[in-house]
Amino acid sequence: MNNIPATMKAIVLKGHGDLEANEYHEAWPIPQIENPDEVLIKVHACGMNNTDVNTRTGWYSKAVSEATTGGAYEAIDTEDPSWGGAPITFPRIQGADIVGTVVAVGDNGNEKIIGKRVMADCWLRDWDNPENKNSTGYFGSECDGGFAQYTKANRHNIQVVNSNLSDAELATFSCSYTTAENLLNRVGCKAGDTVLITGASGGVGSALIQLAKRRGAKTIAMASEAKHADVAKLEPTAILPRAPQNLAKALQEAIGQDTVSIVADIAGGDYFPTLLDVLERGGRYGTSGAIAGPIVELDLRTLYLKDLTFHGCTITTTNVFPDLIGYIERGEVKPALAATYPLEKFNEGQQAFIDKKHTGNIVVTLD
Ligand SMILES: NC(=O)c1ccc[n+]([C@@H]2O[C@H](COP(=O)([O-])OP(=O)(O)OC[C@H]3O[C@@H](n4cnc5c(N)ncnc54)[C@H](OP(=O)(O)O)[C@@H]3O)[C@@H](O)[C@H]2O)c1
Repeated sequence: MNNIPATMKAIVLKGHGDLEANEYHEAWPIPQIENPDEVLIKVHACGMNNTDVNTRTGWYSKAVSEATTGGAYEAIDTEDPSWGGAPITFPRIQGADIVGTVVAVGDNGNEKIIGKRVMADCWLRDWDNPENKNSTGYFGSECDGGFAQYTKANRHNIQVVNSNLSDAELATFSCSYTTAENLLNRVGCKAGDTVLITGASGGVGSALIQLAKRRGAKTIAMASEAKHADVAKLEPTAILPRAPQNLAKALQEAIGQDTVSIVADIAGGDYFPTLLDVLERGGRYGTSGAIAGPIVELDLRTLYLKDLTFHGCTITTTNVFPDLIGYIERGEVKPALAATYPLEKFNEGQQAFIDKKHTGNIVVTLD
């Protein structure tokens, strides 16, 4: 632990609330290795995610029924449950998409990894039973994460990545791409499928385009028109507006068919019934988010008369993260880095992230 200072710069979430709940500290204690499986990482870059925003505001609580706005909710207090059903504890350093260099390892660690650049899987697990979804946590939610100069992780949670991509580019991948890949696994996406993707300009959406394409599926990206030129760089089969009035007609014009086999949805909200209407008989709907609103209208006749299957997709299986590292190392996915902000300007960056004028991911940089 030579050359490792005692304190670090960090963004510390003090409780649920507005952006001001994120406090910038210059002398926060550096995490200590307490468990033989832990490693200490010097963070170079850490991507932003809606989980940070939703956790800060308390949006995961059933007391909230609105779209994600990024603002505080009056009804929320520290007892309200977070994503996993339990309240989180404060103070908390958020940030799941960690890219950094290992600087120290616990007794069970291999010292050869010291000095190597690693990425972290967002999902904390019981490594004696790693596929047990009931004993999982999320980096930066159930433990401190990467919006700080140093963080610690279980050695099983990190993987060395051999790539020419920059730290910031690598920090666009972990949460969004594992979420997208997991959803595509769950809905059984394969060559021949036609996948309709909501929020396609966002982190998960841009990942869904690329990951469905690499399986040989057709992809239809739905995004605000101002972002179509950027979304086109990801080469989806077709691009539609965020919410066409006549979706079946828009599909017919774009791809010559008015139904799809898969809806990969991160938006939810008022448009949800329209998405189901264009699913073919036997079609699969997968959701990993509800940025446009968590409460939706479901006509059960659409679900059962069309023999649809619904998949809720959050916690990944353990193969997903190493698979993603392979795609990155082989150049099968490319980063969509919209902007970087230094840790000192974290709240400026999170406001830009909330404003959603960008395409892809926004990343916090350190050093
Ligand atoms: N289950 C999980 O493990 C998991 C993991 C990651 C993310 N998520 C969730 O998935 C959702 C998307 O995450 P992300 O990281 O991709 O977010 P993001 O990067 O912020 O992108 C979301 C996209 O959704 C679109 N959008 C925003 N508000 C909308 C609205 N009211 N109606 C329709 N579209 C809207 C925007 O695109 P346009 O402006 O182009 O329409 C935006 O680019 C979030 O709710 C997040 O919490 C879940």
